Amino acid sequence: MTDSKILTTTAGAPVPDNQNSWTAGERGPLLLQDYQLIEKLAHQNRERIPERVVHAKGWGALGTLKITGDISKYTKAKALQPGAETPMIARFSTVAGESGAADAERDVRGFSLKFYTDEGNWDLVGNNTPVFFVRDAYKFPDFIHTQKRHPKTNMRSPTAMWDFWSLSPESLHQVTILMSDRGLPISPMHMNGYGSHTFSLWNDAGERYWVKFHFKTQQGHKFHTNEEADQVIGKTRESYQEALYGAIDEGRFPRWTMQVQIMPEMDAEKTSYNPFDLTKVWPHSEYPPIDVGVLELNRNPENYFAEIENVAFSPSNIVPGIGYSPDKMLQARVFSYADAHRHRLGTHYENIPVNRPKNEVHHYHRDGQMNTYGGIRTGNPDVYYEPNSFNGPVEQPSAKEPPLRIHGDADRYNHRIGNDDYGQVRDLFNLFDEGEKKRLFANIAAAMSGIPEEIADRQLAHFDKVHADYGAGVRRARQLHEGREPAISVTPETPQQAAE
Ligand code: HEM
Repeated sequence: MTDSKILTTTAGAPVPDNQNSWTAGERGPLLLQDYQLIEKLAHQNRERIPERVVHAKGWGALGTLKITGDISKYTKAKALQPGAETPMIARFSTVAGESGAADAERDVRGFSLKFYTDEGNWDLVGNNTPVFFVRDAYKFPDFIHTQKRHPKTNMRSPTAMWDFWSLSPESLHQVTILMSDRGLPISPMHMNGYGSHTFSLWNDAGERYWVKFHFKTQQGHKFHTNEEADQVIGKTRESYQEALYGAIDEGRFPRWTMQVQIMPEMDAEKTSYNPFDLTKVWPHSEYPPIDVGVLELNRNPENYFAEIENVAFSPSNIVPGIGYSPDKMLQARVFSYADAHRHRLGTHYENIPVNRPKNEVHHYHRDGQMNTYGGIRTGNPDVYYEPNSFNGPVEQPSAKEPPLRIHGDADRYNHRIGNDDYGQVRDLFNLFDEGEKKRLFANIAAAMSGIPEEIADRQLAHFDKVHADYGAGVRRARQLHEGREPAISVTPETPQQAAE
């Protein structure tokens, strides 16, 4: 090709030879002055950044959120007003596997959305489930330890998982969803997304409403059985990447209907359950979902690392008209994600193009590693502190959310007292048809394989409390599973292998 560009060093000088290193004599050792060789090797050593401590394996794409409904009486957020169209990026993920893990593994799926609104970035960092395993952030690192590798064996440990779950009855709701068909969707396009937490919406009149965000798949729910997933993984570890990338590449753009459930502020004091408890849903009969808009993914990233690996989502990213709630888990996540990003991506992670807001950013933070925006972001070199007399950026009081009523004494409240961990799981179990129940029992039996009986008994007692059929079904499935355990076949060594 004649119109190729000249290969240069990172400092811009032409590279004379990119095939042969610089040596002392034809067969001789390398010269330290071969800076291009050294730079190439040094760059390679730095090609990896720490993987996410959870949700390391992911798939992503870009698209748009279009608002077709009208929830303007609940929120002043510009991105949620009728007719608004907001560019966005999505990243889907599994929780426990490392960045090279197979896609078709039974696990909760992350469903992260970053909306580049005119008022700043709004992130919803949810899952494909409306609830979670724990309700107090204090327990999150313990829970994640049980999902990751055992410190000695370096293998996943079903014993640790069921030990923790059986000692934490608040996990039952999420465990039941994980072990049901919803725990193994065939692709990110065939699952719902949930903001999961209770957030708040507030309007110009200063009225607050509690809100849950849902994204319902328009592709329909499709799932793999464990056996099907084994086959898929035997053929490809990248089944989700292939499905999502392929669909968008071929113009089959996946869509989700965005819905909200709205709860008037004072209702939170009346519900029989704590509406800020992440292990609970709000019954649709009491708080019916309202259609708000359509999320469409229509562009694959140009570069996976630059966009999907570098994207940094955080539940702390909200915009005027949207707020947090007293949910203890959400409160902790408001701290945790930005902290993770500073470690994983660096101090100025918000300035990486995929994270950079599309509106203008003005702040007084300065310096630090990889500050690529030339100092402070105030537009005037003399304006590097606040208040100042030089027309520097000032606060915007209209962005202040209405005051939140709180009451009670500061204490460490036992979240297991007076909390029904079984009722909503029973409602869910009763919704399953016979086939769904059978697969639920079989999936649990497979996942429990080999754990100590004492732990299994403790967990079975929880299933019994949900519904006698639940416990009985899992017991039967366990017996069947034990009977079916394949014997390990050992291939005898050849004499030559034995000698090696
Ligand atoms: C990722 C912390 C609960 C959904 C992460 C990361 C951290 C974290 C540190 C890695 C971030 C990164 O390096 O980019 C926590 C803590 C939790 C919690 C401390 C509880 C207190 C949850 C819950 C959900 C959730 C309840 C969903 C409802 C996600 C998702 C990601 C993630 C989807 C991947 C984000 C991405 O795609 O980049 N979490 N998490 N997490 N978490 Fe959580």
